[in-house]
Amino acid sequence: MDSLTRLHAARDAAVYQYSTLTAHAQNALVAKVLASGDLGMIGGHHVHDLERRVAERVSRSGAVATSSATTGIELLLRCLPTRPSQDRVVIPEVCWISVPTAVRRAGKAPVVAPVTSDLTPYWEQIEPLIGENTAAVILAHVRGRPAPDTRRIAEELAHRGVALIEDCAQAWQVTLDGPHVGTHGIAAVFSTQTYKLVATGEGGLILADDTDLLDRLRAIGGDTRLPLPNNADGRGNDRMSELTAASALPQLDNLDWLTSTLHELQLQLIDVLERSPTTRQVLPERVTARSSNGSLVGMWLPTADHARGLANRLFRLGVRHWWPGRGDSHLAENWRLTQPACHGLVDLRCYLDIQVPVLDEEHRAAYLELVDRALHDGSGGGEHR
Ligand SMILES: Cc1ncc(COP(=O)(O)O)c(C=O)c1O
Repeated sequence: MDSLTRLHAARDAAVYQYSTLTAHAQNALVAKVLASGDLGMIGGHHVHDLERRVAERVSRSGAVATSSATTGIELLLRCLPTRPSQDRVVIPEVCWISVPTAVRRAGKAPVVAPVTSDLTPYWEQIEPLIGENTAAVILAHVRGRPAPDTRRIAEELAHRGVALIEDCAQAWQVTLDGPHVGTHGIAAVFSTQTYKLVATGEGGLILADDTDLLDRLRAIGGDTRLPLPNNADGRGNDRMSELTAASALPQLDNLDWLTSTLHELQLQLIDVLERSPTTRQVLPERVTARSSNGSLVGMWLPTADHARGLANRLFRLGVRHWWPGRGDSHLAENWRLTQPACHGLVDLRCYLDIQVPVLDEEHRAAYLELVDRALHDGSGGGEHR
């Protein structure tokens, strides 16, 4: 096989949509649900099984499955015991556009904390934003890596009686000093949207330990078997369907295999990126790579032009990546906030990450060569503006 054919074969063999790896098992379970006619959470058992299994994985007492993580965040904020004057919720500068919307729909105002080069805020960025009127802080573990300062943020907020919500939408299989992320605050929210490690199209889960809070979330979120709490302003429908849960369950069975497979290629990719002369920093570092879920390797480049040039070359070579260019919905500058935007500490346009595909061993060397080519062509940056 000539060199170009080898590279094209690697590109074509790369599996980026990990959910397809369990498509047969998902089909079988979804078919069973369809045949049973028990399509809704009330009357079925798959949503309940999913809740129990995810709570166990993350070491939380219970979970409530929702139609999306966004819905979960909104429901959670509605159910938190806060005073009416506590109308502010701190959210990170890198997250997702629907999070500030969920905050607003829950009757609160989002306040944005700037992020550092880990793409998450540290306590230093959050502390100045905390006041009498702060109801909660949402801390997101983004790009498949843990927010490094989670423990300190959790402790400081606990002292001040402010609720911490961990946004784990992108953090399936992410750990921090051993345990899975999602245990530090009052609750954590996971997503099963299409691009997540467990992907069902749409879906979410709220995890917590407080059984009263879990019951409240269930009752207000639409479980009509539970009495509505006296002070609730009504019952909504935030439920996950049985079909969604049936699609998620086989993916849970495969998660440990998936992350250990991804970690193998991720480590090799880290080496390739570290060898590039234009790389300023690689995330995660080799030593902490196993606390990430293996799905991404990020890098900081000297200028936005370098990052944009690399993004163009990766695109042409068919290597899946994310570069937060103009208008990107992950960035606070694009959220139409009513509060003035925070002053960024880092220029996010100098960041880029590459998604790690599931790839059989015979194609890995060629895949790494593809990435290496993109890194070394046009290393002066600035082309294709
Ligand atoms: C960090 C983060 N938070 C929240 C969400 C919202 O998740 P969902 O699409 O399930 O509502 C996303 C989705 O991409 C996300 O990346």
